[in-house]
Amino acid sequence: MKSSTIEYGDGLLLVPDRPRVAFMPGDGIGPEVWAAARPVLEKAVAACYGAGRALDWVELPLGQSALSSHGDLLPERTLRSIRELRVAIKGPTMTPVGSGHRSLNVTLRQSLELYANVRPVRHFPGVVSPVLQPEALDVVIFRENTEDVYAGIEFERGSAGCASLRRALAELGHRVSADAALGVKPISRKASRRLLRMAFDHALRHGRRRITMVHKGNIMKATEGAFRRWGYELARQEYAGRVLPASSLVAGHDLPSGAVLLEDRIADAMFQDLLLKPALFGVIAAPNLNGDYLSDACAAQVGGLGIAPGANIGDGVALFESTHGTAPDIAGRGLANPGSMILSGALMLEHLGWSEAAHCVQSAFAAVLRSGRMTVDLAAGREGIQVLGTQDFAAAVRHEIRPP
Ligand code: NAI
Repeated sequence: MKSSTIEYGDGLLLVPDRPRVAFMPGDGIGPEVWAAARPVLEKAVAACYGAGRALDWVELPLGQSALSSHGDLLPERTLRSIRELRVAIKGPTMTPVGSGHRSLNVTLRQSLELYANVRPVRHFPGVVSPVLQPEALDVVIFRENTEDVYAGIEFERGSAGCASLRRALAELGHRVSADAALGVKPISRKASRRLLRMAFDHALRHGRRRITMVHKGNIMKATEGAFRRWGYELARQEYAGRVLPASSLVAGHDLPSGAVLLEDRIADAMFQDLLLKPALFGVIAAPNLNGDYLSDACAAQVGGLGIAPGANIGDGVALFESTHGTAPDIAGRGLANPGSMILSGALMLEHLGWSEAAHCVQSAFAAVLRSGRMTVDLAAGREGIQVLGTQDFAAAVRHEIRPP
């Protein structure tokens, strides 16, 4: 089977049977969790498709190892190849503190225009959670990735930029204390709509019944309020009859089959509702900051902060990544949990349209946890758990993979 490059046209990926897919192991525990995850993904593909499909991995330099070999944490060649190959997976990378380096993750997301951060969150039986019914939460969060207060438009207190912005604000009738630092929060219609479009499409494709936009539009009317407004506008303009605003439903009438309900929640109320009524939610769409908070709060609620998978997706390019950091305290000791990397790999398989293989990985992973076999981070303080190292845990997952 000849390997070839994934193509993209009319909003769709065209995936050959042996696609070239990029990987970057990353720093710290990255190489360990990647070495553990890769054979799991390969076994799932082989179990589901036999000799009919395979992944052709292409390693790209990134992070500390790239600095040694190429003199750059993020060589231009890596960016170019990810753009060309269209699908990539990476381990965590270290961001040196206070050295002037920008986070590699932020640079990758911005350079490749990966405008949606996608985080599915659900509970795996056997994992301890701080709530009584963790299984009630099963959501996919779409977080806008390029704007909001993360755009990096900030001015230190006392700086020339700060003084100049203060003067401009004064002209607009806003008085700001001379002692203040200032930041700008851009939220555009274009970026909001493309993020919401991806969330709507996901909900429709996966038979989800509800999309919840989370905003603080009661306070930030011009920015987060507009995010909400643009969501309803998009539903009306492009998804009529398929994505239905809650206000358009006639009382007492059910949602038509195949349609998705669109509603919105103020962010503070959402954090309460996720704890008190988690089963209400399916797909969540939010601007950058709300989405950041929500992703980690939801992952913690199911006890899975360390095993949450993640993806950064743009038009025709997607980068899958473990959501934890480089864990320098345990790097090289065989203790790291490869779960986030394995599940991010499953997301990647799903993105390729290889849902059977993705499902195989998720089921095998769930089976190992259910049987009480865990890495030390999940086992801590619990009785009756068989503690496994990184590679043994991954081998157990591999062993549980069954053809569909
Ligand atoms: P961290 O996630 O690396 O570690 C926090 C704690 O969680 C540590 O005690 C660590 O041992 C534990 N931990 C993390 N992943 C684990 C795993 N897979 N299995 C078992 N235990 C795990 O966060 P920290 O310490 O704040 O950051 C360390 C470095 O990682 C920094 O340079 C930071 O910039 C970078 N980082 C990179 C990310 C990425 O590339 N996506 C995300 C977060 C941090």
